[in-house]
Amino acid sequence: MLRVVGLSKRFGGVVAAREVNLEVRAGEILAVIGPNGAGKSTLLNLLSGLVRPDAGRIEFLGEDITHAPPEVRAWKGLGRAFQIVQPFHEMTVRENLMVGALYGKPGASLKTAQKVVEEVIELTGLSSKADTEAGELTLLEDKRLELARALCTQPRLLLLDEVMAGLRPAEAMEAVELVQRTRASGVTVLFIEHLMPVVRALADRVVVMDYGQVIAEGRYEEVAANAKVREAYLGRSA
Ligand SMILES: Nc1ncnc2c1ncn2[C@@H]1O[C@H](COP(=O)(O)OP(=O)(O)O)[C@@H](O)[C@H]1O
Ligand SMILES: [Mg+2]
Repeated sequence: MLRVVGLSKRFGGVVAAREVNLEVRAGEILAVIGPNGAGKSTLLNLLSGLVRPDAGRIEFLGEDITHAPPEVRAWKGLGRAFQIVQPFHEMTVRENLMVGALYGKPGASLKTAQKVVEEVIELTGLSSKADTEAGELTLLEDKRLELARALCTQPRLLLLDEVMAGLRPAEAMEAVELVQRTRASGVTVLFIEHLMPVVRALADRVVVMDYGQVIAEGRYEEVAANAKVREAYLGRSA
Protein backbone atom coordinates (compact mmCIF):
# COMPACT_ATOMS: atom_id res chain seq x y z
CA MET A 1 0.00 0.00 0.00
CA LEU A 2 2.85 2.34 0.93
CA ARG A 3 6.50 2.10 -0.03
CA VAL A 4 9.22 4.41 1.24
CA VAL A 5 12.65 4.24 -0.38
CA GLY A 6 15.79 5.98 0.87
CA LEU A 7 13.88 8.74 2.62
CA SER A 8 16.15 11.30 4.28
CA LYS A 9 15.57 14.56 6.14
CA ARG A 10 17.99 16.78 7.99
CA PHE A 11 17.14 19.72 10.29
CA GLY A 12 20.37 21.72 10.58
CA GLY A 13 22.82 19.31 12.17
CA VAL A 14 20.14 16.78 13.16
CA VAL A 15 19.47 13.86 10.84
CA ALA A 16 15.81 13.09 11.58
CA ALA A 17 15.48 10.50 8.80
CA ARG A 18 18.43 8.64 7.33
CA GLU A 19 17.71 6.57 4.22
CA VAL A 20 14.55 5.09 5.65
CA ASN A 21 13.08 2.12 3.76
CA LEU A 22 9.64 0.98 4.79
CA GLU A 23 6.63 -0.89 3.48
CA VAL A 24 3.08 -0.89 4.75
CA ARG A 25 0.97 -3.83 3.56
CA ALA A 26 -2.73 -3.48 2.85
CA GLY A 27 -4.82 -4.49 5.84
CA GLU A 28 -2.09 -4.55 8.45
CA ILE A 29 -1.57 -2.59 11.65
CA LEU A 30 2.05 -1.47 11.73
CA ALA A 31 3.65 0.14 14.79
CA VAL A 32 6.62 2.50 14.62
CA ILE A 33 8.45 2.73 17.92
CA GLY A 34 11.74 4.18 19.14
CA PRO A 35 13.24 6.46 21.79
CA ASN A 36 12.40 10.16 22.01
CA GLY A 37 13.88 12.07 19.09
CA ALA A 38 14.30 8.91 16.97
CA GLY A 39 12.50 10.55 14.04
CA LYS A 40 9.08 8.89 14.31
CA SER A 41 6.99 12.05 14.03
CA THR A 42 9.25 13.32 11.25
CA LEU A 43 8.53 10.11 9.34
CA LEU A 44 4.79 10.72 9.68
CA ASN A 45 5.24 14.36 8.67
CA LEU A 46 7.14 13.22 5.58
CA LEU A 47 4.41 10.71 4.73
CA SER A 48 1.58 13.19 5.16
CA GLY A 49 3.46 15.95 3.32
CA LEU A 50 3.94 18.44 6.16
CA VAL A 51 7.71 18.06 5.80
CA ARG A 52 9.56 17.76 2.47
CA PRO A 53 12.33 15.15 2.20
CA ASP A 54 15.91 15.97 1.19
CA ALA A 55 16.09 12.67 -0.68
CA GLY A 56 14.10 9.52 -1.27
CA ARG A 57 10.73 8.51 -2.61
CA ILE A 58 7.24 7.82 -1.24
CA GLU A 59 4.81 5.64 -3.20
CA PHE A 60 1.20 5.28 -2.15
CA LEU A 61 -1.07 2.81 -3.96
CA GLY A 62 1.54 2.56 -6.70
CA GLU A 63 1.75 6.31 -7.27
CA ASP A 64 4.71 8.56 -6.53
CA ILE A 65 3.46 11.12 -3.99
CA THR A 66 6.87 12.37 -2.84
CA HIS A 67 6.10 15.93 -3.93
CA ALA A 68 2.31 15.95 -3.53
CA PRO A 69 0.89 18.55 -1.11
CA PRO A 70 -0.84 17.30 2.06
CA GLU A 71 -4.41 17.81 0.84
CA VAL A 72 -3.74 15.83 -2.34
CA ARG A 73 -2.41 12.95 -0.22
CA ALA A 74 -5.55 13.15 1.92
CA TRP A 75 -7.74 13.02 -1.20
CA LYS A 76 -5.84 9.94 -2.38
CA GLY A 77 -6.65 8.21 0.92
CA LEU A 78 -3.75 8.99 3.23
CA GLY A 79 -5.33 10.07 6.53
CA ARG A 80 -3.66 11.50 9.59
CA ALA A 81 -4.59 11.93 13.26
CA PHE A 82 -2.53 14.17 15.49
CA GLN A 83 -1.13 13.81 18.99
CA ILE A 84 -2.32 17.26 19.93
CA VAL A 85 -6.02 17.39 19.25
CA GLN A 86 -7.29 20.72 17.94
CA PRO A 87 -11.01 20.55 17.25
CA PHE A 88 -13.14 23.64 16.68
CA HIS A 89 -14.30 24.09 20.27
CA GLU A 90 -17.53 26.00 19.61
CA MET A 91 -18.68 23.50 17.02
CA THR A 92 -20.40 20.24 17.90
CA VAL A 93 -18.81 16.85 17.38
CA ARG A 94 -20.97 16.33 14.30
CA GLU A 95 -20.03 19.73 12.85
CA ASN A 96 -16.34 19.07 13.43
CA LEU A 97 -16.69 15.77 11.60
CA MET A 98 -18.44 17.45 8.68
CA VAL A 99 -15.33 19.61 8.26
CA GLY A 100 -13.23 16.45 8.06
CA ALA A 101 -15.59 14.80 5.60
CA LEU A 102 -15.69 17.83 3.30
CA TYR A 103 -11.92 18.36 3.45
CA GLY A 104 -11.24 14.71 2.73
CA LYS A 105 -13.28 14.54 -0.45
CA PRO A 106 -13.51 17.81 -2.38
CA GLY A 107 -16.62 18.01 -4.44
CA ALA A 108 -18.42 15.55 -2.19
CA SER A 109 -22.09 16.41 -1.84
CA LEU A 110 -23.32 17.56 1.56
CA LYS A 111 -25.49 14.47 1.63
CA THR A 112 -22.58 12.10 1.04
CA ALA A 113 -20.53 13.88 3.69
CA GLN A 114 -23.42 13.57 6.16
CA LYS A 115 -23.69 9.86 5.47
CA VAL A 116 -19.96 9.34 6.09
CA VAL A 117 -20.15 11.37 9.30
CA GLU A 118 -23.06 9.33 10.68
CA GLU A 119 -21.24 6.07 9.91
CA VAL A 120 -18.08 7.28 11.63
CA ILE A 121 -20.03 8.55 14.66
CA GLU A 122 -21.48 5.07 15.01
CA LEU A 123 -18.11 3.31 14.52
CA THR A 124 -16.28 5.49 17.02
CA GLY A 125 -18.97 5.34 19.72
CA LEU A 126 -19.67 9.09 19.62
CA SER A 127 -23.45 8.82 19.14
CA SER A 128 -24.34 10.22 22.56
CA LYS A 129 -21.89 13.13 22.05
CA ALA A 130 -22.74 14.05 18.48
CA ASP A 131 -24.48 17.29 19.47
CA THR A 132 -22.04 18.21 22.23
CA GLU A 133 -19.64 21.09 21.64
CA ALA A 134 -16.10 19.79 21.17
CA GLY A 135 -14.89 22.10 23.94
CA GLU A 136 -16.86 20.08 26.49
CA LEU A 137 -15.37 16.67 25.76
CA THR A 138 -13.17 14.62 28.09
CA LEU A 139 -9.65 13.72 26.96
CA LEU A 140 -10.74 10.23 25.86
CA GLU A 141 -13.64 11.72 23.90
CA ASP A 142 -11.23 14.23 22.35
CA LYS A 143 -9.11 11.33 21.13
CA ARG A 144 -12.18 9.61 19.74
CA LEU A 145 -13.11 12.79 17.94
CA GLU A 146 -9.62 13.16 16.47
CA LEU A 147 -9.68 9.59 15.19
CA ALA A 148 -13.22 10.13 13.90
CA ARG A 149 -12.18 13.35 12.15
CA ALA A 150 -9.39 11.48 10.37
CA LEU A 151 -11.77 8.63 9.46
CA CYS A 152 -14.21 11.12 7.94
CA THR A 153 -11.59 11.88 5.28
CA GLN A 154 -12.18 8.22 4.24
CA PRO A 155 -8.56 7.08 4.42
CA ARG A 156 -7.25 3.84 2.96
CA LEU A 157 -4.21 4.24 5.20
CA LEU A 158 -4.49 5.99 8.56
CA LEU A 159 -1.42 7.47 10.26
CA LEU A 160 -1.65 7.86 14.05
CA ASP A 161 0.95 9.72 16.12
CA GLU A 162 0.77 8.78 19.80
CA VAL A 163 -2.99 9.13 19.93
CA MET A 164 -3.08 7.33 23.30
CA ALA A 165 -0.80 9.86 25.01
CA GLY A 166 -2.24 11.05 28.32
CA LEU A 167 -4.84 8.30 28.58
CA ARG A 168 -5.12 6.07 31.64
CA PRO A 169 -4.38 2.37 30.99
CA ALA A 170 -8.06 1.38 30.92
CA GLU A 171 -8.81 4.23 28.51
CA ALA A 172 -5.86 3.27 26.33
CA MET A 173 -7.28 -0.24 26.05
CA GLU A 174 -10.61 1.24 24.92
CA ALA A 175 -8.74 3.17 22.29
CA VAL A 176 -6.98 -0.05 21.24
CA GLU A 177 -10.37 -1.60 20.64
CA LEU A 178 -11.35 1.39 18.54
CA VAL A 179 -8.27 1.05 16.33
CA GLN A 180 -9.03 -2.65 15.88
CA ARG A 181 -12.56 -1.79 14.81
CA THR A 182 -11.14 0.77 12.40
CA ARG A 183 -8.97 -1.89 10.77
CA ALA A 184 -11.92 -4.28 10.64
CA SER A 185 -13.77 -1.58 8.67
CA GLY A 186 -11.09 -1.87 5.97
CA VAL A 187 -8.56 0.80 6.92
CA THR A 188 -4.83 0.01 7.07
CA VAL A 189 -3.11 1.58 10.09
CA LEU A 190 0.40 2.88 10.78
CA PHE A 191 0.75 4.09 14.35
CA ILE A 192 3.45 5.58 16.53
CA GLU A 193 3.16 4.61 20.17
CA HIS A 194 5.35 4.56 23.25
CA LEU A 195 3.02 2.49 25.43
CA MET A 196 4.35 -1.04 24.94
CA PRO A 197 1.16 -2.83 26.07
CA VAL A 198 -0.66 -0.94 23.32
CA VAL A 199 1.98 -1.89 20.73
CA ARG A 200 1.80 -5.51 21.79
CA ALA A 201 -2.01 -5.57 21.68
CA LEU A 202 -2.36 -3.86 18.31
CA ALA A 203 0.60 -4.34 16.01
CA ASP A 204 0.89 -7.12 13.45
CA ARG A 205 4.39 -5.82 12.78
CA VAL A 206 6.73 -3.38 14.52
CA VAL A 207 9.36 -1.08 12.99
CA VAL A 208 11.96 0.32 15.40
CA MET A 209 13.72 3.65 14.74
CA ASP A 210 16.73 5.18 16.41
CA TYR A 211 18.69 8.27 15.29
CA GLY A 212 16.55 8.58 12.16
CA GLN A 213 17.22 5.02 11.05
CA VAL A 214 15.21 1.83 10.99
CA ILE A 215 17.19 -0.47 13.28
CA ALA A 216 14.84 -3.46 13.43
CA GLU A 217 11.51 -4.77 12.25
CA GLY A 218 9.41 -7.84 12.86
CA ARG A 219 6.76 -9.19 15.16
CA TYR A 220 6.54 -7.63 18.64
CA GLU A 221 8.26 -10.59 20.30
CA GLU A 222 11.09 -10.50 17.75
CA VAL A 223 11.90 -6.82 18.12
CA ALA A 224 11.47 -6.93 21.91
CA ALA A 225 14.17 -9.60 22.01
CA ASN A 226 16.47 -7.77 19.56
CA ALA A 227 19.78 -6.68 21.15
CA LYS A 228 20.02 -3.41 19.16
CA VAL A 229 16.50 -2.47 20.21
CA ARG A 230 17.16 -3.21 23.86
CA GLU A 231 20.31 -1.15 23.72
CA ALA A 232 18.51 1.80 22.08
CA TYR A 233 15.96 1.84 24.88
CA LEU A 234 17.97 0.75 27.90
CA GLY A 235 21.11 2.64 26.92
CA ARG A 236 19.33 5.97 27.22
CA SER A 237 16.15 5.28 29.14
CA ALA A 238 15.15 7.95 31.61
N1 LIG B 1 10.64 21.08 12.37
C1 LIG B 1 11.79 20.74 12.96
N2 LIG B 1 12.83 21.60 13.04
C2 LIG B 1 13.99 21.27 13.61
N3 LIG B 1 14.25 20.07 14.16
C3 LIG B 1 13.26 19.15 14.14
C4 LIG B 1 11.99 19.44 13.54
N4 LIG B 1 11.22 18.33 13.66
C5 LIG B 1 11.97 17.42 14.30
N5 LIG B 1 13.19 17.89 14.59
C6 LIG B 1 14.28 17.16 15.23
O1 LIG B 1 14.41 15.90 14.57
C7 LIG B 1 14.67 14.87 15.52
C8 LIG B 1 13.56 13.83 15.43
O2 LIG B 1 12.38 14.39 15.98
P1 LIG B 1 10.97 13.66 15.95
O3 LIG B 1 10.72 13.18 14.58
O4 LIG B 1 9.98 14.56 16.56
O5 LIG B 1 11.26 12.40 16.91
P2 LIG B 1 10.24 11.44 17.69
O6 LIG B 1 8.87 11.67 17.18
O7 LIG B 1 10.76 10.06 17.40
O8 LIG B 1 10.39 11.77 19.15
C9 LIG B 1 14.76 15.53 16.88
O9 LIG B 1 16.12 15.78 17.16
C10 LIG B 1 13.99 16.82 16.69
O10 LIG B 1 14.46 17.82 17.55
MG1 LIG C 1 7.07 12.23 18.13
